[in-house]
Amino acid sequence: VRHLLGIKDLTPADIALIFETADNFKEVLSRTIKKVPSLRDITIANVFFENSTRTRLSFELAEKRLSADVINFSASGSSVKKGETLLDTVNNILAMKVDMIVMRHASAGAPHFLSRHIKANIVNAGDGTHEHPTQALLDSFSIRERYGEVAGKKVAIIGDILHSRVALSNIFALKKLGAEVMVCGPITLLPRYISELGVKVELDVRKALAWCDVANVLRIQLERQQMKYFPSLREYTLYYGIDKKLLDSLNKEITIMHPGPINRGVELSSDAADSHHSIILNQVENGVAIRMAVLYLLASQVA
Ligand code: CP
Repeated sequence: VRHLLGIKDLTPADIALIFETADNFKEVLSRTIKKVPSLRDITIANVFFENSTRTRLSFELAEKRLSADVINFSASGSSVKKGETLLDTVNNILAMKVDMIVMRHASAGAPHFLSRHIKANIVNAGDGTHEHPTQALLDSFSIRERYGEVAGKKVAIIGDILHSRVALSNIFALKKLGAEVMVCGPITLLPRYISELGVKVELDVRKALAWCDVANVLRIQLERQQMKYFPSLREYTLYYGIDKKLLDSLNKEITIMHPGPINRGVELSSDAADSHHSIILNQVENGVAIRMAVLYLLASQVA
């Protein structure tokens, strides 16, 4: 495998190998060793056509921990604003002897398009409403860390499923790893093809929370909504907002996850996000080890 374009293309054995490699890197980093020489001769470009905090910084840190040379590109402030195409932009970056491209793009399929036109390895860091494979890997890795295994766990993905690449990649990853998966949200924010993905569908957030071991809470992706959707943010909070009182009323242990950024007070209250139920910052920590593992495994395939 030369690229990581989506979870859909991975086998359970591929995911297990990524997790074992991430375990090793996490163990090394816990020993105050901050750098390993694995990618000393590799140059990686982080090419971001969309905003990011966690993914961009976590990839950059993972690359530096692996001793790669790193360059960062943001579309804002670049010659994309003068009309340069995606392919010209990436080919110019590759002409500077770059080996791997980590790319985030607003258009679903953009990294797949690139993979047909360039020789370098590509890691999809999120393509529109399609996939966000390293987010799903770090999410399942965090569930495995919490419970020992993902198989058999009941995971509810709650929120704006329609516009979420995190939801789709998580569904693929969790099902490949043997979890039971439910999606929950307003019917207007569920994709029409959801029944084809082999997941349970629940419209009532209380029932979803009562069913699951893990709730992966997503934000409403206003930037991807083409028209005025129902519900509004205020309506969403009223019917789907999760707070500590609601979690306590369940009278059971439940794990709260969120890929970030959190819209505090909309999908998740601060007292829930910062409660003992939350593993949100563990997810962020695990993102570095997972991205180190992905880059390390792909680097052995550098063209
Ligand atoms: N989870 C995630 O993709 O966050 P960023 O948009 O900040 O990278």
